[in-house]
Amino acid sequence: MAEKFGKPLITQDAMRGRIRELGKQISKDYQGKDLVVVGVLKGAYVFFADLVRFIQLPIQIDFLIAKGTKEVGRPAKTVKVWTELTEKIAKRHVLLVEDIVDSGITAKFLISELNKHKPASIAICTLLNKPAHRQTEIKVRYAGFEVSQGYIVGYGLDFEQKYRNLPYLAKMDPEPVQKEL
Ligand code: IMP
Ligand code: MG
Repeated sequence: MAEKFGKPLITQDAMRGRIRELGKQISKDYQGKDLVVVGVLKGAYVFFADLVRFIQLPIQIDFLIAKGTKEVGRPAKTVKVWTELTEKIAKRHVLLVEDIVDSGITAKFLISELNKHKPASIAICTLLNKPAHRQTEIKVRYAGFEVSQGYIVGYGLDFEQKYRNLPYLAKMDPEPVQKEL
């Protein structure tokens, strides 16, 4: 599988260093606060596991399974959420962990859903940020790396549900990849 993608877009060392910095910053910003870190599955699963191990606070973790889908005949992307949180977030601080914020539609929808539970605050931490692609206004407080173009896979990110297990981030050819035999 690795031969298909060539060199990593961002090396594992660079990634580790940047995620450590994010964890340090989050630990500082939420010092003394009651924090629930919510991972958005599936894409964020690898980043989430790395990030939380660099957060030096007694956090709780939780997950949502969500997916943005563009349905035929609908003008904009709609977001489907399969699960509910298991932890209570009312009056608590929530950090929503995403793999990538692209149009911003998924994150914005999830924030409006989570806001119904009246948390003390909600912030977004994403591994990758594509600010040039925004279709909606959304504030990203923590971003690992900004990317401008191209479709990225690996390290949790998929193409048609594949390549999430590639251990690094790689740019995918804009051409559809050939089916593996
Ligand atoms: P948004 O709603 O447009 O911000 O899209 C966010 C979701 O789309 C992410 O959580 C990913 O699942 C997916 N996505 C967007 N861009 C990419 C990419 O370059 N590679 C893999 N998934 C992507
Ligand atoms: Mg995806």
